[in-house]
Amino acid sequence: MKTTLACALVALLLNTEGMAVEAPLIANIHGRTLVSLNGKWNYVIDPLENGYYDYRMRPLRNGFFANAKAVKPGDLVEYDLDASPTMDIPSDWNTADDRLFFYEGTVWFKRDFNVARREGKRYLLYFGAVNYEAKVWVNGQKAGEHVGGYTPFNLDVTSLLVDGDNFVVVKVDNKRRRDGVPTLNMDWWNYGGITREVMLAELPVLHVEDYAARLAAGRRDLIAGSVRLNEPVAGRAITLAIPALGVTRVLTTGETGEASFEIKAKPRLWSTDDPALYDLLLVHDGDTLRDRVGFRHVERRGKQILLNGRPVFLRGVSIHEEAPFRQGRAWSEEHAMTLLGWAKELGCNYVRLAHYPHNEHMVRAAERLGIMVWSEIPVYWTIDWENEETYLNAERQLGEMITRDRNRCAVIIWSIANETPRGEARDRFLTRLAARARSLDDTRLLSMAMEVASDRNGVNTLDDNMNEQVDVISFNQYVGWYRATNEAARSMRWVIPYDKPVIISEFGGGALQGLHGDKTQRWTEEYQEELYRANLEMLDKIDGLAGLSPWILVDFYSPRRQLPGVQDFFNRKGLVSSHGLKKKAFHVMREYYDRKAREAR
Ligand code: GCU
Repeated sequence: MKTTLACALVALLLNTEGMAVEAPLIANIHGRTLVSLNGKWNYVIDPLENGYYDYRMRPLRNGFFANAKAVKPGDLVEYDLDASPTMDIPSDWNTADDRLFFYEGTVWFKRDFNVARREGKRYLLYFGAVNYEAKVWVNGQKAGEHVGGYTPFNLDVTSLLVDGDNFVVVKVDNKRRRDGVPTLNMDWWNYGGITREVMLAELPVLHVEDYAARLAAGRRDLIAGSVRLNEPVAGRAITLAIPALGVTRVLTTGETGEASFEIKAKPRLWSTDDPALYDLLLVHDGDTLRDRVGFRHVERRGKQILLNGRPVFLRGVSIHEEAPFRQGRAWSEEHAMTLLGWAKELGCNYVRLAHYPHNEHMVRAAERLGIMVWSEIPVYWTIDWENEETYLNAERQLGEMITRDRNRCAVIIWSIANETPRGEARDRFLTRLAARARSLDDTRLLSMAMEVASDRNGVNTLDDNMNEQVDVISFNQYVGWYRATNEAARSMRWVIPYDKPVIISEFGGGALQGLHGDKTQRWTEEYQEELYRANLEMLDKIDGLAGLSPWILVDFYSPRRQLPGVQDFFNRKGLVSSHGLKKKAFHVMREYYDRKAREAR
């Protein structure tokens, strides 16, 4: 054991000289010793990536990341990060600087920070999300990169820091890419920037990197899980404690640096009526990692979804990560509580967080409020299915989503796609991704939002073979908006040849809040209200209907919505307007959910 430990520690300490280490994503960053790097960052708009390439498009050795200064009078330096304007981070540049509302390209960010390094510590620079591609330097030295605009990443900067004043430079590029995830086309605003929180974590050289704690399958009196160190060091003692349950167990790591456990305990089960949470502590070598976790069972049986063994109807709503009232990318606890407050007012016990993993505040707030969550990666529409790099990008984002939220009991469904066009390459891509999702976490239900865009003589049939890959059949349908009429909806039928639960992951239509008229007049609140009445009448007849998440809670910015005086770059399908005003359809949905809640009692 001693040899192993010594080798590992030497290997770690060797990393202290001159090179950054791409570090695996750490679980539960908020439970660590942190310094926040939120606040004012300088920024430089760089549409031609002049700070990264020379005039022949060759990468610069001393680009903007060097933060160079003119020293002698004759020096030529054509930028000055410190003299550049500042932006409050987290934020999206689109709503932080009017010049950047439509901007897609590179913006450089720079921030100074002070560190008093301590012996035997490692330092991780953690970003909640950067949309879309991030390149990071610390004190002018490359720390790492990340692609994907909605999942966290962390870089080991131990070898790059100095005592006292340091600086970090981030090149953010939000250009859409054919081979990206998402790809070129999407119906939401491509908010660019450091859109979630930035933290510097101080950790022991050897620390708990990842862990899982949940009810053992089929049991209510047994908590199972595992803990993993950041290095494969055997023989290390890790104490797991859940004080309110009288649980204290000393675990010992094996050759891989991991320890698994099964501990008898009878926690109060987390549910939407009683969102019970427990303090969980992991102590290793004097370092304590804290979390708040809930214990529950979610499974499907035939056409039912069961929470703690009881059938549950998912009274949901879809939500984009759009900041209430101000617009822009939502990121804070306050944004989360406003959005989930509206969902609660609607009568929801469930939310579909579309079309990408939302910020961690949203998921943890849902957990505290007793709201179940569908969490999704942005494999959206016409992804480059034949491209292996695209697949690996999607798989990496899936892994980052699951690592971050594995212990969030409110998350009951992982979704791997939205409205993807049928085809062999798409089927191969999604079948592989579904298998990967199950290998990473087989304790939750798997789904993807299919598209049902037409009916035959009023009969809608689900025959997408990707329905074989999921636990829960989910589909988006827009009868009364993109096809057919509200009147036709009332006589439409649905054929769903699967013995699985069915969630309508999207339905709805647009209305400009305050525009009133006849219920046949599109864009009026009355039209939307009638659409909801007709759709609910139609959908309620579906055998095996286990939930709904109408599209969408709140109007949101989209570059695809240009109708002047009505849309003005807003998708108006919200039940709540961009000013936080409820439309008439909100109350139709609320009444329906009140009825479903009464029926469930
Ligand atoms: C699609 C898609 C959404 C989009 C919605 C709409 O179903 O999944 O992202 O915003 O329809 O057209 O409003």
